[in-house]
Amino acid sequence: MLPAATLPRRKIAYRLMAVVCLVAASPVTVQSQSVQTRAVQEPITSIPVMPPGDPQRLALGERLFNDRRLSRDEARSCSSCHDVRTNGATSNARDVTLDGRPLALNTLTVFNAGLSFRLNWEGKYRTLEEEAEHVLRNPDIMGSSADDVVSKLRADPELVNQFGDAYGREPDASALLDALATYERSLVTPGSRFDRWLDGDAAAIAPEELAGYQLFKSLGCISCHQGVNVGGNLFQRHGIFHPLGTPDPQWLRVPSLRNVATTAPYFHDGSALTLSEAVRTMGIAQLDRVLTDEQITAVVAFLTTLTGTYRGQTITAPSAEPRAASAR
Ligand code: HEC
Ligand code: HEC
Repeated sequence: MLPAATLPRRKIAYRLMAVVCLVAASPVTVQSQSVQTRAVQEPITSIPVMPPGDPQRLALGERLFNDRRLSRDEARSCSSCHDVRTNGATSNARDVTLDGRPLALNTLTVFNAGLSFRLNWEGKYRTLEEEAEHVLRNPDIMGSSADDVVSKLRADPELVNQFGDAYGREPDASALLDALATYERSLVTPGSRFDRWLDGDAAAIAPEELAGYQLFKSLGCISCHQGVNVGGNLFQRHGIFHPLGTPDPQWLRVPSLRNVATTAPYFHDGSALTLSEAVRTMGIAQLDRVLTDEQITAVVAFLTTLTGTYRGQTITAPSAEPRAASAR
């Protein structure tokens, strides 16, 4: 029995539920008359138009992203592994440490990273600033630190000026990380054919591609790959039914499938060289289903519609062929 005092509140709750049901039911009729239908009903949403970041901070961040002084011995910049002229990553299964050994994990693309709820394969970081700080300190990647970088930059009058214009102060760690993150937040790829379809352009994708999308939903891929990044918003195990590549790390942030047709090789260990192979493996490892060649072709056709644009250019794969880690 509930105490008498809570009864009126329960009544209010029931009335509220009834209102919510009415509200939930009504858009269906409204939507069927509107071009916005898909945008509201589909489990994937198009990449939104983002407000541009502060132009001076963004320009500084872009410059820093390409600046080798960010690494120990000035051996590499962020763009050595994240080439935004192509897919925001490389075509290697695994890029190398500063000493030339293969890294444990495949390089993720920086495109659309800011739209994911956590960063990196294991989803360890919540913000681009936090991620950048760790990359700078990672002995295998940049082997430096935000403070080391700042002391190098303070010796460069031109950069001191640019920091002054953007932040009103000398280079410091927080301005360095903020500039990098401001630039990275601008690395979004709207305008894919799938997004145009979501936004009401029925002719933007071909019937076979649409069939591939229906299959992507009916097979269950959508239960893990959804939202604005078609991934990037859940933690999942890999190899749920059958093993998929290297067992560790066991738990991953589901990767985004935005621009996936351009980001071979695939998986945390770079073990799948082609998209068809990755799709086939996903069926077996995550859904316990052996997909037919026709199903794989259709799903791959859908996935190619997720390729977007950056600064007006369609995202492309690097010209080098995807390379397995052992081929290095
Ligand atoms: C040697 C190659 C290499 C260099 C250089 C490099 N990265 Fe990365 N980057 C990687 C790898 C590998 C991963 C995946 C790491 C992981 O998941 O632990 C990654 C992941 C990322 C991600 C996460 C993407 C996502 O979807 O979660 C961001 C953001 C990023 N790097 C930014 C940077 C920045 C900024 C720099 C320069 C300060 C940089 N990277 C330099 C290899 C590199
Ligand atoms: C239970 C959750 C789950 C389901 C269902 C699922 N995936 Fe995945 N997907 C993942 C995880 C986790 C990874 C990362 C696996 C790894 O790197 O080891 C992944 C990786 C991928 C990749 C590689 C992405 C990259 O950049 O390396 C593709 C492509 C992919 N999935 C497509 C699909 C397709 C197509 C289906 C349906 C046939 C599907 N997935 C079903 C969770 C899932």
